[in-house]
Amino acid sequence: MRALALSLVLAAGVAAGGCGLDDPPEVPSWQVDVMPVLAANCVRCHGYPLNPLVPSSFRLDAYAPTLLPGFSVPLEGTGGAGVAKDLATASDPDPAFTTTLTKRMPPNRRLGEHEYQILRNWSGAADAVTNEAPRGPGRADNRSPSITMEEVAREGSVLTLAFEVRDLDHDLVSGNIFGPTLDVQDQVQVGAIGVVVSGRRTFAWDTTGLPAGSYDITARLDDGADLDGPDGDEDYVEVPVMTVVLP
Ligand code: HEC
Repeated sequence: MRALALSLVLAAGVAAGGCGLDDPPEVPSWQVDVMPVLAANCVRCHGYPLNPLVPSSFRLDAYAPTLLPGFSVPLEGTGGAGVAKDLATASDPDPAFTTTLTKRMPPNRRLGEHEYQILRNWSGAADAVTNEAPRGPGRADNRSPSITMEEVAREGSVLTLAFEVRDLDHDLVSGNIFGPTLDVQDQVQVGAIGVVVSGRRTFAWDTTGLPAGSYDITARLDDGADLDGPDGDEDYVEVPVMTVVLP
């Protein structure tokens, strides 16, 4: 009788607290389910800035494409959504599974079965045409990320900027830093000057050719939450960062 009462208490505790060994969600959420698996197992090699040995066509610390600064026509590096199917293919832990890929991911170690199921279920939700898997709902009580930035050095027209991105929920944060750039006709336009990563980073910004003036720097920060509904691609907070004065 005591044992029964105890197990009822335990069962109630599990149901109410949502802990215990849950099954992987059938349609995983990028922010709640997928991102933590990638953060723990993949991002040290596939996070921006990319390890030179890994494919440069995608980064796994972001859901969405990132604008790569420094190109006259901005290129886009794919985020995790664009390679959703590859994530599951590359990390199948089944010893009987043989992959056509050069290496099984993560190298030298098998991904846990639960973590793999999350990636597999997520890739199963990918759109047949675009191949992209949806973000799914984010955390109900999600808190927005923030950024602070300062200029740490200036040599001629090259500025060194340092920033720190904070997120109280410890989500990975991605996105871009925007400032004045020159278009092909040398007209000033707003463009990507830096790439956002979680934590601290220092980057160089070459302002050669920009007219003297005071310029606003802003950032788009994406912590994985779905901010504009299932079909939108504006899932970021846009925040002012600092003002830079060029002579
Ligand atoms: C220790 C570093 C490291 C970790 C950790 C790592 N990878 Fe990789 N990954 C690589 C390297 C290196 C390559 C390139 C392999 C090659 O071309 O031989 C690669 C390639 C890939 C590819 C492309 C495969 C192809 O042939 O196109 C995918 C997809 C991938 N990794 C997914 C993942 C996933 C998912 C995880 C986490 C579960 C992960 N990786 C963890 C280093 C890593």
